[in-house]
Amino acid sequence: MDVEALEQAALAAVAAASSTDEIESARVEYLGRKSELKLALREVRDRETGMTLNAVRERIESAVDDREAELARAELDRRLLEERVDVTLPVGGYERGHLHLITQIRREVEDVFLGLGYRVVDGREVESTRYNFDGLNFPPGHPARSRLHSLFVDDDTVLRTETSPTQIRTMEAEQPPIYIVTLGRVYRRDTPDATHTPIFHQVEGLAVDEGITLADLEGTLDFLLKALFGQERRTEFRTHYFPFTEPSIEAYVSCHVCDGAGCPVCRHSGWIEVGGAGMVEPKLFEFVGYDPERYTGFAFGWGLERIAMLRHEFPDLRELWRNDLRFSRQF
Ligand code: PHE
Repeated sequence: MDVEALEQAALAAVAAASSTDEIESARVEYLGRKSELKLALREVRDRETGMTLNAVRERIESAVDDREAELARAELDRRLLEERVDVTLPVGGYERGHLHLITQIRREVEDVFLGLGYRVVDGREVESTRYNFDGLNFPPGHPARSRLHSLFVDDDTVLRTETSPTQIRTMEAEQPPIYIVTLGRVYRRDTPDATHTPIFHQVEGLAVDEGITLADLEGTLDFLLKALFGQERRTEFRTHYFPFTEPSIEAYVSCHVCDGAGCPVCRHSGWIEVGGAGMVEPKLFEFVGYDPERYTGFAFGWGLERIAMLRHEFPDLRELWRNDLRFSRQF
């Protein structure tokens, strides 16, 4: 064996290695258990050859170690550079969501009434029949008292069918003047279809003071309708019936699509019905202990989904519950 040639070949291979993998193969080839050098060392019989071969081994070993360290450092440097995560790099940014259409309308209505000096009060969704029916002058056989139409928790407890019970609760707790709105969910035992969902939202308003008249009610609703549907809209009020108002009316707004000329949206009448209202029935005042000779008041209760549908002309109420972003993002 030509030791010198072997050493030269080994050192050349070490110098030529350009990665830690390559230096590892060089180590196996020249220093491994089956390498020429190791086999020769095993055969050594005399001291001098042994010293020579060991010296060669040591030089190759240290060349391998040096080169390996050098390559490892270079590889680390490269990886640090290439694989660096720049935490200061701006990401695409998170897309911000927005409020659900019903929440938007709810807040809009609240703003209108806060601007008029009303307070926003909360009611409760699980209500006793005392507040949901008795206090509101619903006669004993009224269909809304039936389990076919309303969702009862027990004989005396019902998921409120309208926001009107909050009228009674507020009047029981406070003395006039009262100017409040209350907005929230109501429940009816309806099968979902394009215009019904068993849960929907209402805005209820109540004003009780001395000298309140139907003109005040109509003026207030006119203001609200124009705020919701546009200043150029006309409003109209037609007689109706509710057990808790007398007289009762329904509010109409001129069709925002045809401006009264008649089109499919207003079913060719030029007018769109928005919701109920009326002068507070004196029996309610008696129920809560107000003097009906001294105070008068008005109330109204409208569906927020209905307002949303009318304003944005979408044909199916259930879209509001589907959470399909293609729908929600439009508003
Ligand atoms: N509570 C009635 C309903 O749900 C609406 C209404 C409220 C009517 C207040 C008059 C006064 O249909």
